[in-house]
Amino acid sequence: SRRILSIRYYCKRTPTKLRLSEAVSGSKLGANVQVQGWVRSVRPQKKNLFLHVNDGSTLQPLQIVASSGLLTFGCAVEVTGTLKQSPHQKQLVELEADQILVVGECNPVDFPFKIKERHNLEYIRQFPHLRCRTNAFSSLLRIRSEATTAIHSYFRENGFVQIHTPIITSNDCEGAGELFQVEPQSPENDEDANFFSVPAFLTVSGQLHLEVMSGGFSRVYTFGPTFRAENSQSRRHLAEFYMVEAEVSFTQSIEDLTKVMEDMFRSATEDVLAHCAEDVALFHKHVTPGHRDTVDHMLKKRFPVITYTEAIDILNRSSQKFAFPTQWGCDLQTEHEKYLVKHCGNIPVFVTDYPYELKPFYARDNEDHPEHTAAAVDLLVPGVGELCGGSLREERLDLLRTRLEEAGLQDTYSWYLDLRRFGSVPHGGFGLGFERYLQCILGVDNIKDVIPFPRFSHSCLL
Ligand code: 4AD
Repeated sequence: SRRILSIRYYCKRTPTKLRLSEAVSGSKLGANVQVQGWVRSVRPQKKNLFLHVNDGSTLQPLQIVASSGLLTFGCAVEVTGTLKQSPHQKQLVELEADQILVVGECNPVDFPFKIKERHNLEYIRQFPHLRCRTNAFSSLLRIRSEATTAIHSYFRENGFVQIHTPIITSNDCEGAGELFQVEPQSPENDEDANFFSVPAFLTVSGQLHLEVMSGGFSRVYTFGPTFRAENSQSRRHLAEFYMVEAEVSFTQSIEDLTKVMEDMFRSATEDVLAHCAEDVALFHKHVTPGHRDTVDHMLKKRFPVITYTEAIDILNRSSQKFAFPTQWGCDLQTEHEKYLVKHCGNIPVFVTDYPYELKPFYARDNEDHPEHTAAAVDLLVPGVGELCGGSLREERLDLLRTRLEEAGLQDTYSWYLDLRRFGSVPHGGFGLGFERYLQCILGVDNIKDVIPFPRFSHSCLL
């Protein structure tokens, strides 16, 4: 009986380690628990000290009631105590602390975030190494993580096979010359100086590798980092960003692509709104007020489709003065894209059939069109402009060979021509800029605020 007693004593005294999300759920009322996290607020009241602690697993912090202690905003703690029903309406439970151990101190004078202050995204961006300690940015990171899962779920549920396309490549898929070259840092001998024997670059797009796989799999996708040496300080360009790319074989027309693009956008957005409801609500309330209405409005109707020629016509008839004048054959600028979105009722809009000369070598020639166009499509969205770019690919060997020869690329892309020689099928695909997607659903103005570690010209912090 002595042994049983000591086991009972042990069971009572050994606290259960909980993540904050479990602790706040109310499922462990009465339990002796231990939680760890960072202090998000400190409030002395009468004889007690009220703390809010969070470990990033939930938006809702856990209220800790302690009798006393020297605790500051931002410090890391380990708290042991009993979970009790909270008398306050705002939370289900609170933790009555028996012991608080300070794991890491935080000097409140130097800490850039101040208790009870709501810092804007521009301010917290200055501290990329500390910004996950703010509520706004930790919500954003949870939403980003959920959106990643939602996109993978969409593809899994729709029969797409995920392909890990390479990060180092010898091709420039877009042909825009915005490549970062990869070389060993300090070659010790001549052989190392030419490590890959050919010039190698960080990928600008996984499309060509997906096209390789689409010769054996009718639906493939990839979701990974892409790199562009664009010397741009704009609010929607990064040097390193994540792209979601899909490739579909046996396509009949551009509608086969617009359907996947629209379905993926809707499915991922609905998932995020459902599974991250609290974080999204916080964001739409305090960071980008009113944006929830824009998102709901976006999802109400089917996305309209207009041709590039119609788009130019709309822009030419507009009374708005654009910095870049429009005429058939010009590239659409952000100001044009935003105007077109507004014109179509502030919902996402597809623009198809761009001038052939504007598109890379792989885009399919629309020979039957009166103007010389390619079967390419962009998805333009509110607040951002271009979110996705895609096209049907030129699957006809003779036309593709001629185009590559005109560009002097037939040797570089002999393997790509092979894809058209051995079981070529009509196919097409698109790429979606993941950070721009987050900007669109969250209403965030600057792309640097939706990625943990932004890289852009003249900036590679951390
Ligand atoms: O339109 P893009 O250049 O298309 C491609 O790269 C195709 N090869 C994709 C494909 O068909 N598989 O890029 C696709 C999307 C853009 O619409 C934009 O949302 C995003 O990628 N994007 C950028 N996002 C952030 N920073 C940049 N510098 C970006 N460049 C493109």
